[in-house]
Amino acid sequence: MAIAVDCHDVTKAFGTGDARVQALRGVTFAAAAGEMTLLVGPSGCGKTTLISAIAGMLTPDAGSIAVFGADLRKLSRGKLTAFRAKSVGFVFQQFNLLPALTATENASIPLRILGASAGEANRRAAVLLDRLGLAAHRDRFPDQLSGGQQQRVAIARALVHEPQLVVCDEPTASLDAQSGQAAMALLRDLAVRADRAVIVVTHDSRIFSFADRIAHMADGRIENVSIQDAEAA
Ligand SMILES: Nc1ncnc2c1ncn2[C@@H]1O[C@H](COP(=O)(O)OP(=O)(O)O)[C@@H](O)[C@H]1O
Ligand SMILES: [Mg+2]
Repeated sequence: MAIAVDCHDVTKAFGTGDARVQALRGVTFAAAAGEMTLLVGPSGCGKTTLISAIAGMLTPDAGSIAVFGADLRKLSRGKLTAFRAKSVGFVFQQFNLLPALTATENASIPLRILGASAGEANRRAAVLLDRLGLAAHRDRFPDQLSGGQQQRVAIARALVHEPQLVVCDEPTASLDAQSGQAAMALLRDLAVRADRAVIVVTHDSRIFSFADRIAHMADGRIENVSIQDAEAA
């Protein structure tokens, strides 16, 4: 396997004194390019902390994280911001769409941040929305879309700039079973590519079948990793 994300002995604590919580206790973990890796485990075990560190949104206390060969510790603040903008796509549980923007405008945001013109960014976002089955909904605002449709817009936004790393934090937790399955099938179909790693945090066992690899996390550590035949999208 071509290693895309390589974590070694990553630790992170929040708070001080009596309020101190050791969220990560030495995580060693790798995710391969060309695969969808699920990160599963009980609430509070450190999944969001780990995926935030991998995405360059949170600095660990110790340990190393390399993403496609780049050691995140060695990046300056400016380079880390640039890494996030260019190389990472995010999908969140609550979709996090901007209410005043249409589906197309929401999906185009990463390209606008990278300097594309509105016309070019909207054109590329529209292509992706079409592939996600939202051609008729491109000009709608988030409150005019169902939860499943909003999550598909969020998937378009995560992929529009063709990032090397796609991270999803509980992407199906706000969806009914059918919409959750549909979102995962589309994510697999559109996001999994030979030169990209997709990491999905979840405790929704209904979507485990979409994974190539499942990393089981407990109490701030990865306990074991299982390989499986992913369900065809
Ligand atoms: N910003 C924060 N401040 C204080 N404690 C935090 C913060 N973020 C997470 N934690 C704590 O770290 C632990 C791991 O949290 P988290 O990574 O969110 O777990 P998960 O995503 O698996 O539910 C939990 O005990 C949580 O309360
Ligand atoms: Mg979480």
